[in-house]
Amino acid sequence: DISLPKPVRVRLDVTDPAIIKLRTPESDEAGTRVRVLGRVHRARAQKDVVFITLTDGYGYLQCVLTDARRAPPKQHAPNDRELHADFFEIIGKAAGDKEAITTRVAPDADPQTLYDNRHLVLRGETSSSVMKVRAATLRAFRKAFEETRMLEVTPPAMVQTQVEGGSTLFGFDYYGENAYLTQSSQLYLETCLPSLGDVYCVCPSFRAEKSLTRRHLSEYTHIEAELDFITFTDLLDHLEDVICRVIDYTLAEPEIAGYIKQLNPDFKPPSRPFRRMKYDDAIQWLIEHEIPNEEGQPHQFGDDIAEAAERRMTDIINQPIFLTHFPANIKAFYMKKAPEDRRVTESVDVLMPGVGEIVGGSMRMDDWDELMAAYKHEGMDPSPYYWYTDQRKYGTSPHGGYGLGLERFLAWLCARYTVRDCSLYPRYTGRCTP
Ligand code: 4AD
Repeated sequence: DISLPKPVRVRLDVTDPAIIKLRTPESDEAGTRVRVLGRVHRARAQKDVVFITLTDGYGYLQCVLTDARRAPPKQHAPNDRELHADFFEIIGKAAGDKEAITTRVAPDADPQTLYDNRHLVLRGETSSSVMKVRAATLRAFRKAFEETRMLEVTPPAMVQTQVEGGSTLFGFDYYGENAYLTQSSQLYLETCLPSLGDVYCVCPSFRAEKSLTRRHLSEYTHIEAELDFITFTDLLDHLEDVICRVIDYTLAEPEIAGYIKQLNPDFKPPSRPFRRMKYDDAIQWLIEHEIPNEEGQPHQFGDDIAEAAERRMTDIINQPIFLTHFPANIKAFYMKKAPEDRRVTESVDVLMPGVGEIVGGSMRMDDWDELMAAYKHEGMDPSPYYWYTDQRKYGTSPHGGYGLGLERFLAWLCARYTVRDCSLYPRYTGRCTP
């Protein structure tokens, strides 16, 4: 609603100036005539000068519109560059007053209103920076995996088996048969090892989570990897290596490092090696620090360490933790038991300060008889899993892998309170729109 000065029309050069994108300026752009196309992000009027911050999704540019023939006051402009507009054209005016974006998504609006207007919130600097860090993180994971000679595959999202327990399955009717949205691509990745070597995938996973927490989504981006002929120690070393590479590659992009600095000024890449802590020692730690379990009782061996306790421990320790060797009774059916103590599994959760668990992984049961016994123990009908069980029948191998929730990784890297703000259009209990 700022009244714009009358643009001064200047005769254009014989050839129109080139259209540029507002990314980091090329030095040879300085002092040249250019055309820019974008949206007004902010506008401010001063006497006969209007300052506009224009954005095109690549960057921001301060533009000065003036109808007076005198130099505008010196201002600090983003990227230390400024466009003095001699001509402009409005392509599509934005609604103002009560309909203005800033009214609909005022910073003090309640969270539900903000999620209803996620399409507008995404235009803000904070949300768009998180999305740019997200894209850079995905690039970094792919680069790290390719460098370690892992192959990307794309398992199906529509499946007829569960991986992480029946209680969080989304079911649907598939031509008259029961089917589910996948909880994890792990079982499919395992079937790739014999012919494709180590593999990874970046796919959505779905969980019908019953409770609303700040780190649970109904649909999330799951980065999963599976490695053949490894030991449990190899798995932990690989995980540490991949996480550190991803951080290095992300911070190596100056634009992305800038967003991370803005979002999470205190971020420091974690030092190696990561702390490795057995579940049993974590239970002792929780008892010593008087952090109770969900019933308000002191923790004891066999307890599932709940979200609140896990986060308190991680925040106090304040560094990445590899929490290993969980009891078999609180973990998934496919996990391999530790040879030295068969009460526990060769399993790992990676815990990060501020978020808690960002990775779940394990070695897999590779023995046919043991796997059949595990189905029975869990009350699972083995028949839909015939293709998974066959891996143990036709040349089994010691192998393991993990799944990392991208939104949780980003909540840690970008210091977001909730994983919802790390998803383009978050889906969680009660929300499937926009
Ligand atoms: O620990 P989870 O359930 O492990 C698996 O699904 C294994 N099958 C993965 C594998 O070994 N290939 O989930 C792995 C990770 C969690 O650590 C968490 O980061 C993320 O997936 N995750 C969720 N993220 C957001 N919302 C949810 N509801 C999530 N559930 C799991």
